[in-house]
Amino acid sequence: MNKLDTTLVTSALKKAGFSVTANVKEADVVLINTCSVREHAEQRVLSHLGHLKHIKKSRPDMIVGVIGCMAQRLGDKLLEHEAVNIVCGPTQIPQIADLLKQAFEKNEKRLAITEKILQKTSEMQNQALETFESAHGIEDKYIPSQAFVRAMRGCNNFCTYCIVPYVRGPEVCRPPEAIIEQIKRLASIGIKQVTLLGQAVNSYKYKKDGRTWSLADLLDAASDIHGIEWLRFVTSCPSEEFFDEIMQVMADSPKVCKYLHMPAQSGSDKILSAMNRHYSAVSYLELLNRARAAVPRIAIAGDFIVGFPGETEDDFQATVDLLKTARYRNSFIFKYSPRPGTTADKRLQDTVPAEVKQKRIVELLAAQEKISDELSRDFLDKEVKVLVEGLSKKSHRNITGSPDNPQLVGRTATDYIVVFNGPMSLAGRFAKVKIIKTSPLTLFGELI
Ligand code: 5AD
Ligand code: SF4
Repeated sequence: MNKLDTTLVTSALKKAGFSVTANVKEADVVLINTCSVREHAEQRVLSHLGHLKHIKKSRPDMIVGVIGCMAQRLGDKLLEHEAVNIVCGPTQIPQIADLLKQAFEKNEKRLAITEKILQKTSEMQNQALETFESAHGIEDKYIPSQAFVRAMRGCNNFCTYCIVPYVRGPEVCRPPEAIIEQIKRLASIGIKQVTLLGQAVNSYKYKKDGRTWSLADLLDAASDIHGIEWLRFVTSCPSEEFFDEIMQVMADSPKVCKYLHMPAQSGSDKILSAMNRHYSAVSYLELLNRARAAVPRIAIAGDFIVGFPGETEDDFQATVDLLKTARYRNSFIFKYSPRPGTTADKRLQDTVPAEVKQKRIVELLAAQEKISDELSRDFLDKEVKVLVEGLSKKSHRNITGSPDNPQLVGRTATDYIVVFNGPMSLAGRFAKVKIIKTSPLTLFGELI
């Protein structure tokens, strides 16, 4: 979500005449796009702002803007920060060029956030976001040949630990024709992989001409678009609604990547209920069984929070058991971080001590690493198809074959990272690689 907002804002500002610089010291404007999901992310922004305050001593004309979730959450408190000129929430990003213009002209601080974020967004605001999204959502690719397309904004789920509904507002699904049109335009400029985005993207629904479009219908329609070769969607919230239809389209369409990111968060029913997640460990695992029955070799990824208030050692062990049973290809594991304003923060004490959270995260990561390692090993000596992203950021040693070529990185349809030597001209294209070495999260191979 955040990356997409950065792309949209960058594209809008380029069209308004700005150009991007990698050097903060020579920038006239510094924009920080922020996430509020965990406290750590917010602390990093505050430390950046401290640094910018310093730079502004010798560059008083520099405009600093904070955009995104933290802007919406902290509003005028953030505007009081000495370094900050503009605070702009996620629903106000279409105004960013105007806000900058005003800040330059009047040298005044500007605040643009939604006051009653929990209320349904107005038609006008939706329209502004829709126009902004379709106008700017087709440029500025981070990785050649790939693009993100928002299917829906916001979230209605109110998981008790989560800040998202309070900073991104209620769920709004974009009209299917706008999404499909955007994907067609992306295909026409050479995009090969599109990822549909939503906080609980599997619950996408849109009533049109007497029928309801689901995510399965969107994927099906997008599969017909010439030029698009891989379609992905993230993130799925465990739910019966549309589940079988979505798995069916994944099974039927060769373009829909066989990858499901469906966070469990915990394996304890007591904790799941305290998190306001509407499933049990058993029903969650049953969904995974159905996914695997419909789509053999599907890769499944999960998220977990350890140390949620009231989590006992038994609750935690239930999480370890679930993770082992689920056999995820990868899990994203976080320590519970109380977020001001959420139900968990208001009603529950952050009871699990820091050292216990630490011990649990280490144990769960180790259990996942063992599974990831086993699953990766299955790829030894096999051929995989990857979409090449570009130069590998880390330089891995012990790679044989084409030593004159740089080390490239790509991903399989099931989201495995593959590192191999090859010419840069492959960036943005598909390649076949034979795997010769594996690690839990990365496959290493030779171009064939
Ligand atoms: N503390 C820790 N992790 C959190 N997540 C969301 N809110 C919190 C929180 N308050 C995690 C969840 C979610 C992922 C995006 O971030 O696992 O799936
Ligand atoms: Fe947060 Fe739950 Fe919505 Fe995901 S589904 S964004 S965890 S409230």
